Amino acid sequence: MIEVKGLTKRYGEITAIDDVCFSLEKGEILGLLGPNGAGKTTTMRILSGFMPPSRGTATVAGYDVLKEPLEVKRRVGYMPEHPPLYNEMMVSSYLDFVARIKGVPRNRRKNSFARVVEQCGLPQVTSRLVGNISKGFRQRVGLAQALIHDPEVLILDEPTIGLDPGQIIEIRELIKALGEEHTIILSSHVLPEVTMICKRVVIINEGKVVVVDSYENLSARLRKSERIAIKLTKPNEQVISRLKALTGVKEVFADEGNANCFIIESEIKSEIGEELAKTIVSEGWGLQEMKLLSLSLEDIYLRLITGEKELLS
Ligand SMILES: Nc1ncnc2c1ncn2[C@@H]1O[C@H](COP(=O)(O)OP(=O)(O)OP(=O)(O)O)[C@@H](O)[C@H]1O
Ligand SMILES: [Mg+2]
Repeated sequence: MIEVKGLTKRYGEITAIDDVCFSLEKGEILGLLGPNGAGKTTTMRILSGFMPPSRGTATVAGYDVLKEPLEVKRRVGYMPEHPPLYNEMMVSSYLDFVARIKGVPRNRRKNSFARVVEQCGLPQVTSRLVGNISKGFRQRVGLAQALIHDPEVLILDEPTIGLDPGQIIEIRELIKALGEEHTIILSSHVLPEVTMICKRVVIINEGKVVVVDSYENLSARLRKSERIAIKLTKPNEQVISRLKALTGVKEVFADEGNANCFIIESEIKSEIGEELAKTIVSEGWGLQEMKLLSLSLEDIYLRLITGEKELLS
């Protein structure tokens, strides 16, 4: 449904995105995850047909964003980070206005309006002024304006940003429900957001794709090893070579910055703890501390975006 190949965008000297590639099947919900300035908005604006790339191609439902942006716009509902809402308009007139701009034929506008009001849970606010409704409802109106021309694809830029926890849950549920009939790309800079809604994740950092994978695969790939930290009172120069020789141990290194501390990386489920403790005691190195260092997916995301790509190798 969406095919992105070598997408690059430069703003003068700044390369906002560099050689971005990924693809999306019909009906998938994909999360574009990355810190501020990673290039999420840039990627989404290009995919929505609002901005041409400097290099590379992207097709949406078979249409090239550069050659046929109008066909792309017809099939994409885009919700920018700050949806263009007019505070002095009533919700119903605003949605009618958007329907007209997007070229929804007059005889279909009433149905389109009824459909998005139903889809986005807006019945109680249709006759209120946009400026007077809560942020959660404003976000729903933002979604409604993206959906008004009944697009197959939804591109949502940080859809839950600035909402309270209750509203965040409501919007997530709404997006999941929309995912049953739409292909969706949403962006976020927080990991839980993406893992709760999306099956597959593209992590992007400083304009480059760091990883594209399903959430399950990502967790599995990243949990290939376990780490144990130890602190010894009387280590000698044989510690590293001796511990490396234990079954299940992949790597042993001194914990820089912490004197007498070592990190032992072992194969997952190898349960080396007992053997490790026995060895330390029998060698007389003095075991002062031993703890399992678990890497949460959040740690991993942080490490990935701070450049520790070897985590995935
Ligand atoms: N119109 C522009 N002119 C110049 N540089 C820009 C422009 N728009 C974006 N950039 C730069 O391109 C890079 C990517 O920006 P982009 O807005 O795509 O990131 P983002 O991932 O959406 O960030 P955020 O999480 O803050 O929304 C940043 O370095 C940004 O400063
Ligand atoms: Mg952005």
